[in-house]
Amino acid sequence: MSIAANCTMMFTQRTLSTSSILILSLLVLLGSMSSTWAEEAEPASHKNSRVLITGANRGLGLEMAKQFVAKGYQVIGTARKPEQAVALKQTGATVMKLDVTSEADIAALAKALEGEKIDILINNAGYFGPKLMTENPENLAKLTRQEMELCYRVNTLGPLFVTQALLPNLKLAEDAKVVHISTRASILSKGTSGTAYGYRVSKTALNMVTRTMSGDQAMKGILVVAIAPGHNKTHMGTERGKLDPQQSMAQVIDLIENLTRKHHGGLWYYDGSRLPW
Ligand SMILES: NC(=O)c1ccc[n+]([C@@H]2O[C@H](COP(=O)([O-])OP(=O)(O)OC[C@H]3O[C@@H](n4cnc5c(N)ncnc54)[C@H](OP(=O)(O)O)[C@@H]3O)[C@@H](O)[C@H]2O)c1
Repeated sequence: MSIAANCTMMFTQRTLSTSSILILSLLVLLGSMSSTWAEEAEPASHKNSRVLITGANRGLGLEMAKQFVAKGYQVIGTARKPEQAVALKQTGATVMKLDVTSEADIAALAKALEGEKIDILINNAGYFGPKLMTENPENLAKLTRQEMELCYRVNTLGPLFVTQALLPNLKLAEDAKVVHISTRASILSKGTSGTAYGYRVSKTALNMVTRTMSGDQAMKGILVVAIAPGHNKTHMGTERGKLDPQQSMAQVIDLIENLTRKHHGGLWYYDGSRLPW
């Protein structure tokens, strides 16, 4: 081999090894940058998302607030008595006052949030009514007009008018979602027990609010669903609840984060399965 050819080979080898090193270093650098980006990407994507949860001072609302905060969302939790909502404050959520039966409270909340976008509205506040749970022929006789109306005002009119008032905020978000927390006890085609008139009637009406909103031009571009959270251990669900809110609410949040057009206007169980009406 001529000296010239030898030199060319050595030069090529050196060039190759130098460029290999350069390429390798570049790949390593890109790899480390992309893993940094990947690590930062998740919280950053939630950082600008705002969730508002009604009745967040205890039970399922409090658990959702905790988990949304931990995921990096900006969370507004409402409570009837904000000064007593210590556990909610401790989650890092912003606490705002709201009794969902109060027109003045709803108007004040909307005013305080004017111009602020809301990505996810969770109408969670709920009222069960007197514990006429067990089958008892006296249930009907014990039922009062006042209790029936209160169930309707909290469970049906609450979500309807809170959504109405916060619609301008939802419109400011790119893919807003409205979630009405319903219950399996609302299902017309299931269960015929003679109990909990107010709760069942008002939640079935809430399902119709969900259906109606899902076809309303005013709600265009906003996903609306009803979710039944399952029987949980809370004040309402009592110790007999089969589910631990920490686990079931993680599933509910996963469902909310992954809502698509196929979910729009439907009633969904906490585990993501579809429920009948
Ligand atoms: N737990 C279950 O097994 C179960 C099953 C099916 C559906 N759900 C639904 O899940 C939601 C949460 O239930 P939960 O188990 O967490 O019940 P919970 O422990 O009894 O909590 C109910 C929440 O709603 C609030 N609330 C009641 N009336 C209100 C009003 N007029 N204005 C504003 N907030 C009001 C309560 O606030 P205060 O503390 O001020 O009273 C509390 O924060 C409800 O919609 C319920 O119907 C629960």
